[in-house]
Amino acid sequence: MNQTRRDFIKKSSVLGVSSLLPFNKNIFEANMKIRTAHIGVGGMGLNDLKSISSHKNVEVAALCDVDINLLNQAHKLFPKAKIFRDYRILLNDIESEIDAVIVSTPDHTHGPASIMAMKKGKSIYCQKPLTNNVIDAREMSKISSQKKLVTQMGIQVHSFYDYKLAKLLIQDDIVGKIHTVRAWSPKNWGFDGKLSKKEDNIPDNLDWNLWLGTSPYKNYLENQYHQYNWRKMVGFGCGTLGDMGVHIFDTPYHALELDIPESITNQCRKPNEVGFPEKNKVSYVFPGTKFTTEKLKWIWEDGKGAPSNHDDLKLPNGDKLPQQGAMFIGEKGRLLLPHFMEIPRIIIDNKYEVVDSYKFEKNGLLEKKPTRNYEKESLLHYHEFIDACLNKKECSAPFSYSSKLTETILLGVIAGRFPGKKLNWDKDKGQFKENKANVFLNQNIRSF
Ligand SMILES: NC(=O)c1ccc[n+]([C@@H]2O[C@H](COP(=O)([O-])OP(=O)(O)OC[C@H]3O[C@@H](n4cnc5c(N)ncnc54)[C@H](O)[C@@H]3O)[C@@H](O)[C@H]2O)c1
Repeated sequence: MNQTRRDFIKKSSVLGVSSLLPFNKNIFEANMKIRTAHIGVGGMGLNDLKSISSHKNVEVAALCDVDINLLNQAHKLFPKAKIFRDYRILLNDIESEIDAVIVSTPDHTHGPASIMAMKKGKSIYCQKPLTNNVIDAREMSKISSQKKLVTQMGIQVHSFYDYKLAKLLIQDDIVGKIHTVRAWSPKNWGFDGKLSKKEDNIPDNLDWNLWLGTSPYKNYLENQYHQYNWRKMVGFGCGTLGDMGVHIFDTPYHALELDIPESITNQCRKPNEVGFPEKNKVSYVFPGTKFTTEKLKWIWEDGKGAPSNHDDLKLPNGDKLPQQGAMFIGEKGRLLLPHFMEIPRIIIDNKYEVVDSYKFEKNGLLEKKPTRNYEKESLLHYHEFIDACLNKKECSAPFSYSSKLTETILLGVIAGRFPGKKLNWDKDKGQFKENKANVFLNQNIRSF
């Protein structure tokens, strides 16, 4: 039988780690398996399954999906894994057979599934954004710190070379203290239209009740929710902010060591209770940090035509702005971070400056050079999680960090319900000063 992490830790504490190590350490570590359960194994979940299981210390113990076709597809790859359609049954029935849970469902199920698993003491890799609501994001962070769990948000580009380099450059004061961040994506995960029908027949392969989970009941509509398009729909995803926004926010948020914003304004169309706006322009004000001026202004634009022209975004030599990315605007110059797999560019007095990555590489703060291979570089993030489960490393996007990033994103989404109105956020109370906005902090309410 495989040596599991729990067995290892139990034996280590009974014998005393020092009496056990180094004599048996290598044998234990080589054989130790982190037994994983994967909730949501179609779409990104299949990718997560392949990436996590590529670590030599992983044994895929269980697979769960509400769509039997997608479950069968994953089961063919891991025929020894136990299969489930309801994550609650999986977590209750085989609790003692799993060490870590990978949550790759649509956003509205991240919180309920992760929280249940965390209460059972499991390590969690949860896809981005952490949740679709502020209450669950805070709860996930709280339980992970109370129980000292290994947690990682699935934001693999966090571990990519260019993002690490951008963080190091900013923290090295390369363009001075930052007063403004502009970030953009022309992608559109909103829906301004109307629902064309009332209801479609639920396909036999899908358990619609389980898919809806704790979200308010909706009639099934083909291609409107399952798969992918739930991102656009109120009550399930978080629009473009929750999709591309999380990736593009991550490096400036991390590099500047930001906390939660104090105020948020979203210029978008009026809410329609069906889909998220197809275009958002969100302005945040953050309290300052050691890397920013007293306050930091942050402007996010998404949807067709984003970003709008602005002097902050003009590049030397009339160069074209990357389609998606972020610009840090500092007291001495600017740093452009394209999304993604491109070296950040330093701009001072409207000229590009040489980017000196060598000093970070020689100190071991950065890999020698980028791989420029998406699959290979992505694995760093997944394997970091498994290595953290094995007590060899720490996760770089634990819930203590990623819940705040997620909260920031979600505050922008909620501001979209009050177009053009500045909302003021009381971080300590976890409430808006504008009481009307507080009803949107938690929408996962249905018993199923
Ligand atoms: N990190 C990234 O680069 C990246 C890329 C794509 C998606 N994602 C994230 O991955 C998650 C999934 O997105 P997607 O595009 O794969 O969506 P999807 O709709 O294609 O896939 C979701 C999968 O979860 C299953 N599922 C739904 N509800 C379930 C439940 N209650 N229990 C078990 N399985 C359930 C679905 O049947 C499907 O297999 C989202 O949170 C998304 O933000 C991240």
